[in-house]
Amino acid sequence: MSHYPALRLRRTRIAQWSRALHAETVLMPSDLIWPLFVTAGGAEEPIASLPGVSRWPVAMLVERAREAARLGIPALALFPNTPDHLRTDDGAEACNPGNLMCTAIRAIKDAVPDIGVLTDVALDPYTAHGHDGLVDARGYVLNDDTAEILARQALVQAEAGADIVAPSDMMDGRVGLIREALETGGHANVQIMAYAAKYASAFYGPFRDAVGSRGRLKGDKKTYQMDPANAEEALREVACDLDEGADSVMVKPGLAYLDIVRRVKERFEVPVFAYQVSGEYAMIEAAAAVGAGERDALVLETLMAFKRAGCSGVLSYHAPLAARLLGG
Ligand code: PBG
Repeated sequence: MSHYPALRLRRTRIAQWSRALHAETVLMPSDLIWPLFVTAGGAEEPIASLPGVSRWPVAMLVERAREAARLGIPALALFPNTPDHLRTDDGAEACNPGNLMCTAIRAIKDAVPDIGVLTDVALDPYTAHGHDGLVDARGYVLNDDTAEILARQALVQAEAGADIVAPSDMMDGRVGLIREALETGGHANVQIMAYAAKYASAFYGPFRDAVGSRGRLKGDKKTYQMDPANAEEALREVACDLDEGADSVMVKPGLAYLDIVRRVKERFEVPVFAYQVSGEYAMIEAAAAVGAGERDALVLETLMAFKRAGCSGVLSYHAPLAARLLGG
């Protein structure tokens, strides 16, 4: 290797054309998955803790799907705000083929058949207590009973037209049960994107507002979601989910866990996605609002970081903005 002054690393940074030529990572609209919230109400519902993000009635959600297609965003991730009277201790509404989620899937697939639809598999938007699964008398979230319901929920979503089912609940063994349910239910080509390394994080607050579970949730999710202290355990989680039939894996939240993205990518060489979650979106918006940072640049830099760390794609509420900035 040569040394200064023969070596001047600034030489290739001299002009935009040269920086473009030497870029090691590219970010494109096709790297993005756009998470969208659905309401049973009749009008757009802005979410106060997620400025710029709304819940959409199904008819308006379809417009978002068209917008995504125009922008070159390949897939949407859907999350329902279940009407209060349908939230029960057992979250039974999750498995109702006529629920808000399934209605939304069908409407999008009818109107924009070529866009990918990813669905969240977990019970928190459907339970009266806001947990992702069934809760016993002592407040423990039951694993095996929950996992069985999740398999039914995933099958119902697949029947409505979901292309990718994404279990975000962190129950043990649920990927295997879901894969079996899809296989025997005639949906062998429905993908599973496992939220494999999902941490018990303080960054989910605005999301819980969006799906209406925040006020309901007592305690935390630490008996099922992962401890932010752990990385080896994330690798074990990923190994299990791949072994059980996941097509791709997700790390969540995003920026604070890029080391996990990198380790998973290097160890398993499989498609890895990250979720730039609601609290991360809110931090960028808050920084932009007080002039501490420039929104467009913050968005593109953080999304690029995910790609550089090894992600195949990123779920981000900034997806439409980023796609526009990228010329999609
Ligand atoms: C629920 C779920 C959560 C998110 C996605 N699916 C919240 C949670 O686990 O409490 C968070 C997404 C975000 O914060 O943007 N299973």
